[in-house]
Amino acid sequence: MTIGFFDSGIGGLTVLSEALRKLPNEDYIYIADTLHVPYGTKSSEDVKTYIFESIEMLMQYHIDALVIACNTATSIAVNELRDMYAIPIIGMEPAVKPAVEMNRATGKRVLVFATQLTLQQEKYYALVSRVDEQGIVDSLPLPELVAYCEALQFDKRVITEYFKAKLAPYRLSDYGIVVLGCTHYPFYADILREALPPHIGIVDGSAGTVRRLAAMLHRYGIGEGQGNGNVKLLSTSGDKAYEDKMRTALGLLTGNAIFT
Ligand code: SIN
Repeated sequence: MTIGFFDSGIGGLTVLSEALRKLPNEDYIYIADTLHVPYGTKSSEDVKTYIFESIEMLMQYHIDALVIACNTATSIAVNELRDMYAIPIIGMEPAVKPAVEMNRATGKRVLVFATQLTLQQEKYYALVSRVDEQGIVDSLPLPELVAYCEALQFDKRVITEYFKAKLAPYRLSDYGIVVLGCTHYPFYADILREALPPHIGIVDGSAGTVRRLAAMLHRYGIGEGQGNGNVKLLSTSGDKAYEDKMRTALGLLTGNAIFT
């Protein structure tokens, strides 16, 4: 079976790499909306149009299930996409609920990193008001981190300085968990780990998303493991240089994908 993955850029590869680890016997087609990345700093009306156009392109490949490997796109369009297409569609949301539950015993705060657009959406407000009874969740947009990621800027010194500047206004001893609520951010989890005090945990939504994907494939009786982990990387601009960049980025995350 062929599973489609969609993101504004290379961020969703962090989820795809988890899928390749956990579901190695499926095939994958990944599309990045290179015509419009980044999404997080644009208007929700524009981004919704871009999402619909990108998914329409991906659907030409007759995928059997779709993962919206982008928190911003999920918060803007997942419900409408589910109405538009008959295949199973998995979205993402910042892992605020598990973070709040994990922190309950410690009394510490939760800091959510996500794009401005994700943090402005009704879906995010609804999520936080549902799970954050004690008012312990704070949020911080990190638009520059998406830009760094898209530029394959992985220089440890540059990124460490960036995290230090962004975290300077926070009293980190008050926090117990940081949530990575954008799929671009896990590329920097190791550098963030070193920039944070050791008592602060880091969570992201990749593992949970892939667990839901596996359960969904099982429920629909698709994904019988007839694939072999083939990955096709596409972009909305058809830019071969960007597709090479995706190959490099996926190679950083997992060394064993077969590219077609
Ligand atoms: C972006 O394009 O700004 C990042 C989108 C996301 O992963 O939430």
